Amino acid sequence: MSRWRWLSFGLLMVAAACDRPVAGGAADGAQVFASACATCHGAGGTPPEAMAAALGVRDLNGAEFRARASRDLVEHQVRTGSANKKMPSFTGALSDAQIAAVADYVMRLPAPPTR
Ligand code: HEC
Repeated sequence: MSRWRWLSFGLLMVAAACDRPVAGGAADGAQVFASACATCHGAGGTPPEAMAAALGVRDLNGAEFRARASRDLVEHQVRTGSANKKMPSFTGALSDAQIAAVADYVMRLPAPPTR
């Protein structure tokens, strides 16, 4: 698939996520991650090659990220999105409880080398 197809796919999934309560509104970190983050970041936190290439999605299991990851950093990233706007802000789309739960989830991610 071309870069642009992946990009619009990602944006479409995000737009769809904004229309209805993500994960049925449940504040379960794994569920929130699966429905709001996995499209870009991969089910286990390591992005599919195509997403990494198209958007520059960070590997949440990567050593560089794990070395500086904090709950506050993740919450901030989810609330504001990335500075380059390739990751959207989830303020409004996720409740405070869901953002807290998904931040906890990211901090607990196992960090096995997946590729
Ligand atoms: C549309 C694709 C997309 C979605 C959906 C998405 N992200 Fe991201 N994410 C990105 C991209 C792209 C980056 C790298 C941004 C950059 O280069 O600054 C990133 C970076 C991150 C980072 C790393 C920040 C850092 O300092 O390195 C975290 C943490 C993160 N995302 C968490 C999440 C969580 C949690 C969710 C779900 C609530 C999520 N992302 C949903 C695309 C996405």
